[in-house]
Order: sequence, then structure tokens, then C-alpha cells
Amino acid sequence: MQNREEKMLTVALPKGRIAQETLEIFEQIFGSEFAFDDRKLILDTPDFRFLLVRNQDVATYVHRQAADIGVVGLDTLEEQGLDVIRLLDLRKGICKVAIGMKKGEKLDLTKPELKVATKMVNITKRYFEQRAVSVDIIKLYGSIELAPLVGLADMIVDIVETGTTMKQNGLEVVEDIMESSTYLIANKNSYIAKKDEILSIYEKIRDVVKSDKS
Ligand code: PRP
Repeated sequence: MQNREEKMLTVALPKGRIAQETLEIFEQIFGSEFAFDDRKLILDTPDFRFLLVRNQDVATYVHRQAADIGVVGLDTLEEQGLDVIRLLDLRKGICKVAIGMKKGEKLDLTKPELKVATKMVNITKRYFEQRAVSVDIIKLYGSIELAPLVGLADMIVDIVETGTTMKQNGLEVVEDIMESSTYLIANKNSYIAKKDEILSIYEKIRDVVKSDKS
């Protein structure tokens, strides 16, 4: 017999809307309330321990097995490249990673010394390397859309969800790099040690996601 600790799943959730939406899925599945108290970062329920972490930290918690499973955007997974199992596309947080330039400007990859501002350095590096284009990548931490407006960069690689931020700042998408949405991920060892528990919640979440879309 396993004890309760061994059977319990620890779930890393990214602070904000996605955590909220994931907890709503659990509420739908189990018919009870799943909510963090005020500023608490741990929520314990009989079968799950939820951790509230920064979006960029979800895969780290899962990769190092501080959490068994987690919920995180495909863009973040691709950027970080950590070795975790991608279990299920939750079809939430749908967005794309795209190249944006000032309205009217054209993407000309033959131009020398292109400067690209981005939060997503690895995705950007891969994209241009695959096209054998050498670019100067400028790492920023936010408000990426500002960079071309003040001459810091020729273009940006950024997340586009509604397109409003680019539009309001006089930018437009000139090329899509990848589609992204939120994924349920698992630690590789947990997937072996707690396979029944992980598959059980995976199936339940999958059914909710399926029925939401049908
Ligand atoms: C993201 C992204 C864009 C914006 C896109 O930024 O970097 O700026 O959302 O969304 P939209 O297409 O719906 O306008 P975030 O809100 O995460 O803030 P940050 O730039 O400070 O990281």
C-alpha cells in the first residue's frame, strides 16, 4: 500500500489567468472548490498539492520534480527546452510568437546586422539560424513593442494574443514563428512512479477540454 504522500500529486500552476482556469477545470471534475487563500502559494486538497509559481518557473519545478505535473505555455517550453513530458494541449492561452515591425516596413533578411528585440532569445536564435541569417539579438524583459519605436531594434519577436499591443504601438506582424497554447506537462520520473495518478487526472482533464470544445 502506498501512503497518501506517495499518491498525492503536486501541481505547479502559473500565477494569473491560467492558474484560475486550471483550478476551474479541477472544480468541474471534482465538484468542489479549488482556491488559494489570499497570498498563499500552496493549496492542499486531499489528492493534490497546488503550487502557485511564475509562468517561467513552472517547467523548472516540474523538471526538478518539485512538482509532478504543471501547466505552462508551449512558447515557454520551447524557449526553455527543459526535458519534461508534454501530456496534453489544454487549448487555452492561445497565442502566437511572431515577428513584428513598424507598420509598412518589410522583413528583408538580406539586410546586414538586423537588430531583434525579444524576451524569447532561444526561439529567436533558432528561427534566424535555420534561415542562416545572422542577427543581433537584444534581450528585453517586457514592453518589447517599444524597441522599434525608439530605434533600439529593427524588429521584435514577441507574443501576439489579440494583436492590440502591436496595433496600438504602430507595429504589425510580418511573420508568424509558432502557434502556442497551454500544455499539461509531467516530470519523467513522476510519470513512472505515479503513472496511475497522473493518467487518471490526465484523462479527466482531457475529457473536460474535449467537452469544452465540442
Ligand atoms: C505580452 C506580449 C505582448 C502582449 C501581447 O506581454 O509580450 O506585449 O502580451 O498581447 P496582445 O496581442 O493581446 O496585445 P505581457 O502582457 O505578458 O507583458 P510584458 O510585455 O511586460 O511581458
